[in-house]
Amino acid sequence: MSAAGARFITVEGLEGAGKSTCLATIRDWLANRGIDPVVTREPGGTKLGEAVREVLLDHQYGGMTADSETLLIFAARAEHLAEVVRPALTAGQWVVCDRFTDATYAYQGGGRELGEERIEPLEQWVQGRLRPDLTLYLDVPVRAGLERAAARSTPDRFESEREAFFERARAVYRRRCATHPERMRLIDASTNLAQVQQRIEANLEAAFGHLV
Ligand code: TMP
Repeated sequence: MSAAGARFITVEGLEGAGKSTCLATIRDWLANRGIDPVVTREPGGTKLGEAVREVLLDHQYGGMTADSETLLIFAARAEHLAEVVRPALTAGQWVVCDRFTDATYAYQGGGRELGEERIEPLEQWVQGRLRPDLTLYLDVPVRAGLERAAARSTPDRFESEREAFFERARAVYRRRCATHPERMRLIDASTNLAQVQQRIEANLEAAFGHLV
């Protein structure tokens, strides 16, 4: 449960969608209103979570089953919620998280084809009623995003997946934006940076302008 006013914002998008820039825009928007949020990420955000992240991204574990992958992600998430997210919200601090459970629906549910019925019980177990207050999903065509990501660094275990994997993940993200209109916003991130930033700010204003 969050103290009055504290909000939980998550940022989602395929590789190369521009999440880092979006996180910086959110941070600036909040800073201009005197709010210094906890900025964190998944998988990660705790010592255990960062260790799990290394395993998940490591090519050594290429043969990992989709079930093991999903359970590792939720183990990292349970730790992150207990150690970082819930304590911050309870103390009245805003939390901005780079990816959260929508990524599990997209990558494991869609990409790995596990289906949402495998993810939902884990979401209930680990999160209870906790859901983000606002999720900004940055939408880019798969190939453009992958090219951007590949220019930046050597592909990790997820980035090495075939395009079809990311097409399935993108389809899930887009569908979830339609089925969760109370908190999810689809932002076309394929246009120029200034326009994307404007859209992010407009969404923050619409969601939280009355609070801050
Ligand atoms: P990053 O690219 O945002 O640093 O995230 C690392 C990778 O982890 C990314 O390729 C997506 C993947 N991931 C999942 O597959 N499921 C999840 O639930 C999360 C949070 C991330």
